[in-house]
Amino acid sequence: MCLLCSLLAVLMVAMATASDEAALLAFKAQINHGGLLASWNRSAGFCSWEGVTCSRRRPAWVVALLLNGTGLAGALSPAIGNLTFLRTLDLSFNSLHGGIPASLGRLQGLYLDDNAFSGTFPVNLSSCVSMNEMVLDNNKIGGRIPAELGEKLTSLTEFSLSNNSFTGHIPASLANLSHLQILDLTSNQLVGSIPPGLESIQNMQYFSLYDNLLSGMLPLSLYNWSSLEVLDVALNMLYGTIPDDIGSKFPKMKALSLSSNHFSGPLPSSISNMSDLTRIFLWKNRFSGYVPPTLGRLGVLQYLNLADNRLEANDNKGWEFITSLANCSRLQILELSVNPLGGQLPGSIVNLSTTLRDLSLTDNMISGVIPAYIGNLVGLTRLVLANTSISGVIPESIGKLKSLIQLGLYNNSLSGSIPPSLGNLSQLNGLIANNGNLEGPIPASLGKLKNLFELDLSMNYRLNGSIPREIFKLPSLSSFLDLSYNSLSGPLPNEVGSLANLNRLILSGNQLFGKIPDGIQNRIVLECLLLDNNSF
Ligand SMILES: *[C@@H]1O[C@H](CO)[C@@H](O)[C@H](O)[C@H]1NC(C)=O
Ligand SMILES: *[C@@H]1O[C@H](CO)[C@@H](O)[C@H](O)[C@H]1NC(C)=O
Ligand SMILES: *[C@@H]1O[C@H](CO)[C@@H](O)[C@H](O)[C@H]1NC(C)=O
Ligand SMILES: *[C@@H]1O[C@H](CO)[C@@H](O)[C@H](O)[C@H]1NC(C)=O
Ligand SMILES: *[C@@H]1O[C@H](CO)[C@@H](O)[C@H](O)[C@H]1NC(C)=O
Ligand SMILES: *[C@@H]1O[C@H](CO)[C@@H](O)[C@H](O)[C@H]1NC(C)=O
Ligand SMILES: *[C@@H]1O[C@H](CO)[C@@H](O)[C@H](O)[C@H]1NC(C)=O
Ligand SMILES: *[C@@H]1O[C@H](CO)[C@@H](O)[C@H](O)[C@H]1NC(C)=O
Ligand SMILES: *[C@@H]1O[C@H](CO)[C@@H](O)[C@H](O)[C@H]1NC(C)=O
Ligand SMILES: *[C@@H]1O[C@H](CO)[C@@H](O)[C@H](O)[C@H]1NC(C)=O
Ligand SMILES: *[C@@H]1O[C@H](CO)[C@@H](O)[C@H](O)[C@H]1NC(C)=O
Ligand SMILES: *[C@@H]1O[C@H](CO)[C@@H](O)[C@H](O)[C@H]1NC(C)=O
Repeated sequence: MCLLCSLLAVLMVAMATASDEAALLAFKAQINHGGLLASWNRSAGFCSWEGVTCSRRRPAWVVALLLNGTGLAGALSPAIGNLTFLRTLDLSFNSLHGGIPASLGRLQGLYLDDNAFSGTFPVNLSSCVSMNEMVLDNNKIGGRIPAELGEKLTSLTEFSLSNNSFTGHIPASLANLSHLQILDLTSNQLVGSIPPGLESIQNMQYFSLYDNLLSGMLPLSLYNWSSLEVLDVALNMLYGTIPDDIGSKFPKMKALSLSSNHFSGPLPSSISNMSDLTRIFLWKNRFSGYVPPTLGRLGVLQYLNLADNRLEANDNKGWEFITSLANCSRLQILELSVNPLGGQLPGSIVNLSTTLRDLSLTDNMISGVIPAYIGNLVGLTRLVLANTSISGVIPESIGKLKSLIQLGLYNNSLSGSIPPSLGNLSQLNGLIANNGNLEGPIPASLGKLKNLFELDLSMNYRLNGSIPREIFKLPSLSSFLDLSYNSLSGPLPNEVGSLANLNRLILSGNQLFGKIPDGIQNRIVLECLLLDNNSF
């Protein structure tokens, strides 16, 4: 009997290894691999084939198939399910299409991200009860997330389905996945509310539901995730307030993103206690009240985007946070646009870190002046102060912002002349300073802006003198040149013919006269030429 048993066992092993080989060859047969799988032939054992990992014990079984980013195309053969001892299947970053076979079982790691898989999520995958990581991001898989999954895959630590076409609700059963550390359902079409009962998940680190159609409030149980590092529920229809004690709930939080929802209420000052926070994205909500004056305690903060809310400030209160943020030595983005912020722009803005790249303060009620030392912020690539009540002159020191690419100073009450130092901003792509009270000549130094492709100084009414011919020699000027509704005079220089790439030239409403240079006919890409209300 014993001999028979042993014989049977040997026979079964032999059959199983033969079937592993057959399964691999069936997989290969459906794949266009550009020669990569040439080593997959019977001249050598399958354990030596590219991408195949076998168990150490003899006889050998296939335990892992790792072909990440190897240029595979075609469909995934259901025969892969015949690899009885396969634990890890990594076919990510290829061009595989078609459905995910229902035959996949007993896996611990499944990585099919960054392919073109379609169809629905096979309910059968829920029977891979020892699955730890399932990564299906960046495919075209649709349908519902099966509820069975939450009931059976209780060992899952990572579950990533981002950028697919999943619909329906987030199954309540996901609350059973108590070992989950990464849940990424970003960019699908999930509806309904975030299920409650999530507190049984102890070690959640990364939770993203960004870009879905979710509604309702954040479940309170979420605030029990003390290991949470990333909370991203932006671009949904969620509402509710941020609890006052959020700062003590998430001591490890690195990124907090609630943008583009219907959240409301004040920004609790305890946010300043989350000392690992590098990113705060709260734009496009209904947050109100003052920005906490203690944000500067966030020593590693890099991005602060509070745009499009109902945040307030006035001359007595509300601007302290700017002074405080001067302590954030890694700050890169400060976006405060579209808020009812009023009062004078605080002078301490010039003390923000020189790492600041993007400073945007548009659509608000800010008055006062641009501080003379704005030139301190030498890291700025984008500075936009528009649709405000800011007045006074454009400080000369702005010429020190050598990294500036975009300068928007339009629709303010800025007055005085345009500082010639602007000519030093050699990286500048766009200089937009229309709808103000600027006066005097246009500095010839603007002719040094070799990367400029948009220039708009229209509707200042009192810019005068002739148009410096240097401006017409800027080869990069391609989008538009709008100097309309000013008091510019003199003839149009012949150089206008050399603006070979310009799409729109608008000089209406000035006192230009003389002959329109013939060269203007050569400018074949011109889409719009307005010279009306002059004396040509
Ligand atoms: C996979 O297993 C099934 C059932 O045992 C068998 O019918 C099929 O031929 C096998 N396919 C390959 C390619 O080994
Ligand atoms: C079969 O695979 C071996 C490597 O395992 C390779 O040297 C040989 O060229 C392959 N044969 C064919 C016909 O591709
Ligand atoms: C797969 O390849 C991509 C790029 O080719 C790499 O970023 C990723 O880390 C790899 N994944 C694994 C699991 O090795
Ligand atoms: C689905 O899983 C069940 C149980 O594990 C298995 O019997 C069945 O063959 C699987 N279906 C397919 C299509 O592989
Ligand atoms: C989303 O996935 C598709 C493939 O389905 C890919 O082409 C696209 O780049 C992905 N988008 C992002 C933002 O990763
Ligand atoms: C899993 O979740 C479902 C739905 O929430 C629940 O009915 C079921 O009891 C849970 N199962 C386990 C094992 O926790
Ligand atoms: C969640 O945290 C609250 C206190 O913040 C606590 O009272 C409650 O017991 C916790 N729930 C679970 C399930 O751990
Ligand atoms: C921040 O933390 C400190 C010490 O942990 C605590 O005393 C203080 O009350 C917290 N501040 C807020 C606003 O929660
Ligand atoms: C300044 O930042 C450091 C961390 O870099 C922090 O410890 C300190 O409390 C902050 N100071 C103020 C006044 O916010
Ligand atoms: C900027 O910081 C310096 C040094 O801390 C300080 O002396 C100065 O008053 C600050 N400027 C403004 C406008 O707050
Ligand atoms: C400024 O106001 C105009 C007109 O209301 C609007 O179109 C524009 O979007 C506003 N904001 C910016 C940044 O231009
Ligand atoms: C100028 O800004 C104000 C807000 O300060 C806005 O109401 C108005 O529409 C803007 N005008 C233009 C032309 O952008």
